[in-house]
Amino acid sequence: MTAKSQDKSDALVFFGATGDLAFKKIFPALHAMAKRGVLDTPVVGVAKSGWDLPQFIQHARASIEAHGEPDDAAFETLVSRLRYVDGDYNDMATFANLKTELGGITRPAHYLAIPPSMFGVVVKHLAEAGSVEQARIIVEKPFGRDLASARALNETLHEFVSERQVFRIDHYLGKEAVQNLLYFRFANALLEPLWNRQYVENVQITMAESFGVTGRGKFYEETGVIRDVIQNHLFQVLSLLAMEAPSDTEADAIHSEQAKVLRKIRTLSAADVVLGQYRGYRAEPNVAPDSRVPTYAALRMYIDSWRWDGVPFFVRAGKSLAKTATEVLVELKAAPDVVFPATAPSTGNYVRFRLGPEVAIAVGALIKKPGEDLVGKPIELSVVRQDAADDMDAYERLLSDAMRGDATLFARQDAVEAAWAIVDPLIAPPPEAPIEYQPGSWGPAEANRLVADIGGWNTPR
Ligand code: BG6
Repeated sequence: MTAKSQDKSDALVFFGATGDLAFKKIFPALHAMAKRGVLDTPVVGVAKSGWDLPQFIQHARASIEAHGEPDDAAFETLVSRLRYVDGDYNDMATFANLKTELGGITRPAHYLAIPPSMFGVVVKHLAEAGSVEQARIIVEKPFGRDLASARALNETLHEFVSERQVFRIDHYLGKEAVQNLLYFRFANALLEPLWNRQYVENVQITMAESFGVTGRGKFYEETGVIRDVIQNHLFQVLSLLAMEAPSDTEADAIHSEQAKVLRKIRTLSAADVVLGQYRGYRAEPNVAPDSRVPTYAALRMYIDSWRWDGVPFFVRAGKSLAKTATEVLVELKAAPDVVFPATAPSTGNYVRFRLGPEVAIAVGALIKKPGEDLVGKPIELSVVRQDAADDMDAYERLLSDAMRGDATLFARQDAVEAAWAIVDPLIAPPPEAPIEYQPGSWGPAEANRLVADIGGWNTPR
């Protein structure tokens, strides 16, 4: 998104600098920023590993090599910016050393790529060291474990910094295709007349992944599919799809409309939810042999608003499914069958947004089959982008935006809390185990009952 007028941060400090997220996402994003010529501030890594700067630089190189082709000039730029502070987050000396390292820097962006349980202590120590006054604090998801813990976390942060200083990352918002939901909806007049209960039959959002927990068993045992991707990524998508037009593109205008949608979602009942777990999950490293953590969830939701009253929104996500694809299908109501007979079960009329890995926007319609009879066949008018790999990576975009103070692509406190309020009833320890499903399938067959009235799930091709 384009920046507004805010002051740019004059350094990036990232805590958890030797961790998994830094290795997978942050170094590659910094390298990409250097390549684009926008990495023009010091970058200070903080961690407790006993390393020195040369070791830290070596680690950065390994990360960049593991995630693509290093560009020598960009890497040199990155190296010239890198600093490293080694120390424990519980020790004030670490923050004093950081302050010294920052020297005359007054507006750092502190990125907390660390477990949420450490956010409080790090921000408190930064404040005590006098390093937060004009700083930005970037935090990673999961932002809390439920509504109560998210509120407590917000209160802790707000003891030391204001909401305007906090940037909550949801990397889905940094995706080009997700931003296009907002753009396509509100840059064209095409959809608006149809985008309501009179013309929309149902909405389906699927986030399918063909792989399991890939070595993240410990994280996943504490998270499960609802906390991992539904409460954040998929509710961001849902709110962008369903929200009213914002008054402008300022962060607050967009966030207010998103939060309004989430607050109008009807409380879910057990009949609206199916939870699953792929066969073999319990044998993954660091997973309990009797784990009840769901790796699949399908939800039927209703937004009790003027626009969406009575329209079902189906959201499903899962690991170890038949393919990797994130897709939105907005099915439109059928034309009256007074001229041509209906084509049940599907109306053939829809708008489809493929959000990844490939990117597409498509409109489904019926046309006449060539021949003597007036018989129809479904076709799709689509724009497909195969070159999505050239897009700016979500982390690169989000880090640049946070450093510029543009909060549009970050989650605001009220929306995060509204999203937790929706899923809170679902994340208490489940009374029964989730339904086992076959890896490589589309999840438990029981989920079909949720969509029995609408002719079944949309299966992303
Ligand atoms: C992360 C989740 O937030 O998003 C992962 O923790 C998930 O479990 C990932 O695989 C998906 O992101 P992307 O960008 O690969 O679709």
